[in-house]
Amino acid sequence: MALMEVVKWPNPILDAPGDPVTEFGDGLKKLVSNMFETMYSAPGVGLAAAQVGVSKRLFVMDCSGGKDPDQRIVMINPEVIHVEGEQNGEEGCLSFPGIFTPVERSLRAVVRAHDINGNEFELDDTELTARCMLHETDHCDGIVFLDKMSPIKRELVKRKIRKLQKAGKWS
Ligand code: NI
Repeated sequence: MALMEVVKWPNPILDAPGDPVTEFGDGLKKLVSNMFETMYSAPGVGLAAAQVGVSKRLFVMDCSGGKDPDQRIVMINPEVIHVEGEQNGEEGCLSFPGIFTPVERSLRAVVRAHDINGNEFELDDTELTARCMLHETDHCDGIVFLDKMSPIKRELVKRKIRKLQKAGKWS
């Protein structure tokens, strides 16, 4: 296993929709294993391939932070098939280190995806798991959480990032 470098916004790869995954072989298993290691090391609860410079539709997540093996999930070619309700809570992103801001999301989400062997499955969950699935599926579509903020909030966050860039603390 190897740690991968997490790209920061505004790297253009974060704005590009990923290509569908069509090969479920050793290369994919290696990428997923490296993505898990990178996510746990950050630490974070979700990481999409675009964030490690790979423009493909997949992500890994673990809302238990490595405590519960059942929550170690990889979703390949994810597709949101149902949402309902609303939640508003703090959200962060490994491509925006140190930025935490409230983002509105659906309370419940049903996401269909392939597992590491190419078998289709659905995950139906709420609260943090739903938030995480929606945030990471957005990454697969070239959408970052900045795009989900109100225009005022988005400007504030951009201003904060510009300051960090000038201070050499964002590269
Ligand atoms: Ni993110």
